[in-house]
Amino acid sequence: MPSPDTQPLPIDLLGAIDALRKQRNAVILAHYYQEPDIQDIADYIGDSLQLARAAQKTTADVILFCGVHFMAETAKILNPTRTVLIPDMAAGCSLADACPAPLLARMKAKNPDHKVVSYINCSAAVKAISDIICTSSNAERVVASFPADQPLIFAPDRNLGGYIAKKMNRPMLLWPGTCMVHETFSERRMIELKLKNPGSRIVAHPECEPSLLEKADFIGSTSALLDFVVKDPATTFIVATEPGILHQMQKSAPSKLLIPLPGIDETCACNECPHMKRNTLEKMYLALRDMQPELLMGEELRLAAKKPLDAMLALG
Ligand code: 13P
Ligand code: SF4
Repeated sequence: MPSPDTQPLPIDLLGAIDALRKQRNAVILAHYYQEPDIQDIADYIGDSLQLARAAQKTTADVILFCGVHFMAETAKILNPTRTVLIPDMAAGCSLADACPAPLLARMKAKNPDHKVVSYINCSAAVKAISDIICTSSNAERVVASFPADQPLIFAPDRNLGGYIAKKMNRPMLLWPGTCMVHETFSERRMIELKLKNPGSRIVAHPECEPSLLEKADFIGSTSALLDFVVKDPATTFIVATEPGILHQMQKSAPSKLLIPLPGIDETCACNECPHMKRNTLEKMYLALRDMQPELLMGEELRLAAKKPLDAMLALG
């Protein structure tokens, strides 16, 4: 009998994943930036907020989280009695990496009158020292939940924070983090594509640089961008976010022309998130077969990180 590591992969990977999902009583959650085959086999696809809610509500014994590490961590924080698996534990996030908790703690100590609003793209340790969490779909509502004279620190995405600060006319201290994918989008190509496609609409994720956001017709979370493309009467859309979202957009609006915005260097696929793309069907199969890699967290950290997440979820 070969050891588990040397067992060959089944030819029908999709069928094998489906069988294991039933055997393990597992639910597969996938973010919109996953490869199309992963999205198609998932039980639930969504943006960060929708996936956090789905993870909180599930009654399945196992959550296979096809996204990045902070998303799986959030699932564990909200639903600790479930086994949370992630196909590739190295699927990180440049925003989470940009904000080590001890440095944010120092910024807090220097500004003791400030409350800390942290974007969900951060580590559990950062969540634990934040007052409230937000996602790209509720950041405005979260910031508005504080009195107008309450000074705020916004971490770790300076682009989302800057966009909200400008829109709400509410200055905030911004942590200088960025998304390695959204910061590479090409403004020049955005202008060229718009000129080539008169009547097209530009949709952008708020993690994009301000100069790109200024040119967008609509700014929102991945699910909000999907919704806009489906409902807007325009027929052509220039999409300034990770191109994984195009799969659901095209499925929901098959007659529309969707143009993914390339990065500055068009010779690489740098508009694709290398972390999200670490997940594969093979790794999903192995995770369900071997019940690892499993996301584990100490109870003290979990409870501290849960408080600001609960504060966000309580806003509805
Ligand atoms: P959404 O919550 O909008 O899906 O964003 C998650 C993310 O990581 C974007 O880069
Ligand atoms: Fe993080 Fe950017 Fe990847 Fe989203 S796209 S997971 S923000 S690195």
